[in-house]
Amino acid sequence: PGSFRVVCLPGDGIGPEVVEQAFRVLEVVSAASPDFELKLESHDFGGCAIDAHGEPLPASTLQACKEADAILMGSIGGPKWGVDAKVRPEPGLLALRKALGLYANIRPANLASESLIEYSPLRPEVARGVDIICVRELIGGVYFGTRKEQGVEPDADTAWDTMIYSVEEVQRITRVAAQIALAANPPLEIHSVDKANVLASSRLWRKVVTETLTKEYPQLKLHHQLVDSAAMFITSNPRKLNGIILTENLFGDILSDQTSVIPGSLGLLPSASLAGAPSAPSAEFKPTLGIYEPIHGSAPDIAGQGIANPIGTILSAAMLLRYSLGLEKPAQAIEQAVRKVLDNREQGGLGLRTKDLGGQVGTVELGDHIVETLKSLL
Ligand code: NAD
Ligand code: IPM
Ligand code: MN
Repeated sequence: PGSFRVVCLPGDGIGPEVVEQAFRVLEVVSAASPDFELKLESHDFGGCAIDAHGEPLPASTLQACKEADAILMGSIGGPKWGVDAKVRPEPGLLALRKALGLYANIRPANLASESLIEYSPLRPEVARGVDIICVRELIGGVYFGTRKEQGVEPDADTAWDTMIYSVEEVQRITRVAAQIALAANPPLEIHSVDKANVLASSRLWRKVVTETLTKEYPQLKLHHQLVDSAAMFITSNPRKLNGIILTENLFGDILSDQTSVIPGSLGLLPSASLAGAPSAPSAEFKPTLGIYEPIHGSAPDIAGQGIANPIGTILSAAMLLRYSLGLEKPAQAIEQAVRKVLDNREQGGLGLRTKDLGGQVGTVELGDHIVETLKSLL
């Protein structure tokens, strides 16, 4: 039987609370499967690593990640290591993404369950039928261009960041979007989002996306959308962007949070950060190293209360099985278990839901229900 090494990085705030539930789900999958074993281990990363080791990404954590088959992350950061701190958690995450070459960030925002539509911040008739996958370039752009930090250099009057893209960086993320689009039947339409009316890096983006798709994937439909009006459509008429939003690092950071609340709560949605394109279910499986994490952050406002929604992290574990380990069946079982629990209207009609979705169930109790439902499906 195969054995897979899964490295868990629980992190800070609600990170450990939600990762614990995904950890349990993976243990259940492993115990129920005679053909493979998941070897789970946890490492310090983020603010907790700053406290214990003086740095957010200790060498031992990076080494474990490099040797892993897949990485499950919670979230990092918090007021204790805020923007004025000397050593901060967030650069550790950027360094980890860069060191592992994880250029493709995939954030699906589709309604996990029709029964959640009443919790969408949008009216039901606007939210219904939204099916958007954000494909965000993750290791380029303004996040990684050179910058000048005020207070570090002697002339303290300015600070700057550089938004920079190469042809090759845009080509490879465009190909990932195209392959995800082609895995669906009918193929998904691609909405490339940029600010080509102002930014030089966006004009390069638009030119390379157009050339790559026209030459290599002529069957795909491509639209260009400026980022400001894309933001407007995400709240006024999000179905207009159904398919794939293909965009650069910073725009993707912002738009994916905005898109992710349409299904009801930021706590629901998973993400994958991959070193290459995921293989389509029908294609021969090519494992891709990836970090799987919920879209949300460490939620300091609710940390330690046992009320965080663990579903985004549990669904990230499903993506991990699918994209890094090629285990489609247990991935689907997890997704089905989550859907079943969300659709359950017990408890006075409130359903088995955490507070962010109008329910009264705590993190661990929701985990219990998902684990029990999953056992009956495996
Ligand atoms: P956040 O995503 O942590 O929280 C935004 C709001 O959503 C909060 O009100 C929070 O309570 C709520 N929320 C988030 N996840 C939830 C869940 N699972 N269940 C219920 N409610 C949930 O964003 P923020 O407050 O802007 O950032 C806090 C910290 O997290 C910052 O330090 C930031 O850098 C970090 N962050 C880390 C990651 C990551 O690790 N990948 C991602 C985003 C933000
Ligand atoms: C995310 C987060 C990170 C980002 C931060 C914590 C560095 O917001 O994963 O979306 O900006 O990429
Ligand atoms: Mn973000």
